[in-house]
Amino acid sequence: MSTLPPPMGLLAELTHRCPLQCPYCSNPLELKRASEELDTASWQRVFGEAARLGILQLHLSGGEPAARADLETLVASASAAGLYTNLITSGLMLDESRIRALAAAGLDHVQLSFQDVDATGADHVSGLKGSLARKLAFAGHVRDAGLALTVNAVVHRQNIARVPQIIALALALEAGRLEIAHVQYYGWAFANRDALLPARAEVDEATAIVTAAREQLKGRLVIDYVTPDWYGARPKPCMGGWGRQVMVVTPNGEVWPCHAASTIPGLIFDNVRAKPLAEIWQHNHAFNAFRGTQWMTEPCQGCEHAERDWGGCRCQALALTGNAAATDPVCELSPAHGALAEMARDAATASPPPFRYRRIGG
Ligand code: SF4
Ligand code: FES
Repeated sequence: MSTLPPPMGLLAELTHRCPLQCPYCSNPLELKRASEELDTASWQRVFGEAARLGILQLHLSGGEPAARADLETLVASASAAGLYTNLITSGLMLDESRIRALAAAGLDHVQLSFQDVDATGADHVSGLKGSLARKLAFAGHVRDAGLALTVNAVVHRQNIARVPQIIALALALEAGRLEIAHVQYYGWAFANRDALLPARAEVDEATAIVTAAREQLKGRLVIDYVTPDWYGARPKPCMGGWGRQVMVVTPNGEVWPCHAASTIPGLIFDNVRAKPLAEIWQHNHAFNAFRGTQWMTEPCQGCEHAERDWGGCRCQALALTGNAAATDPVCELSPAHGALAEMARDAATASPPPFRYRRIGG
């Protein structure tokens, strides 16, 4: 019997298929095809294992999770297993009858992503024409089905000026929560960073607007704000600390400590097709590689913040320094912090290059 506490959440990436092509997509560089995805019974078994392990929250994500025709069946199984179910969706593959069926199956919550509040901007970021109008209609269906709604908006240099309109949109849609998240620069977003990174002055202005709105809208709308790492002085505890709070199951059943873990060379992942979730949580090589503080080197080793930020983000450390075990360069104590600040300044002042879009299979 181990003393390792269970994770709080399971992020189930049901599929990498998606009608959108956001340039900051958090899915890995190599996308899985439909033929490689876990089948219905395997996902149902995984949800049962998750509940027995002590996991409370299931985040059904993708790609676009509604690209799976069995989404309603999966939600029903997860709900029957006692998991709180959160659907993270673009809203573009769910009509009114399907969202009603999901509510009847026990879905608890919908997180709807918006690429922009301006139709042209939304088309540009998503690589799809007419997405904004369809999302607005979908939000109405969510409300009519009695489901809790969170509006999610990823902000970057091409939409950051519209933060006030994003807040107004969340209010108009009667969302209970708004998540405004600056792009996190690893994986595909790292490839698009020069097109996405705002200038520090733009970030400061957006932060001031959000701070004022939070105060003004207390009791009406909760606003979560994910600040941009590259202008910070201390890193965020990515994933709540490696191997501490979250397990990610990929469309083909691999289990990762975070959604970009496959960028780190040398990690050995297990697959739910071969091993139970509980065994993977306890004993898997990748989960134990950066768990706790033992793996840390200076300046993290012995730092008073080590058990608060857990050294920041391993994937970002790798992307920026070539070493996943290095201190996240977002930290001002990192020897690479100065170079990161310079890179951010250069990227944000140059004219933005065109977005790089992608599809499964290139
Ligand atoms: Fe966090 Fe490491 Fe920086 Fe300390 S040195 S604040 S533990 S990232
Ligand atoms: Fe992998 Fe932060 S995204 S540790």
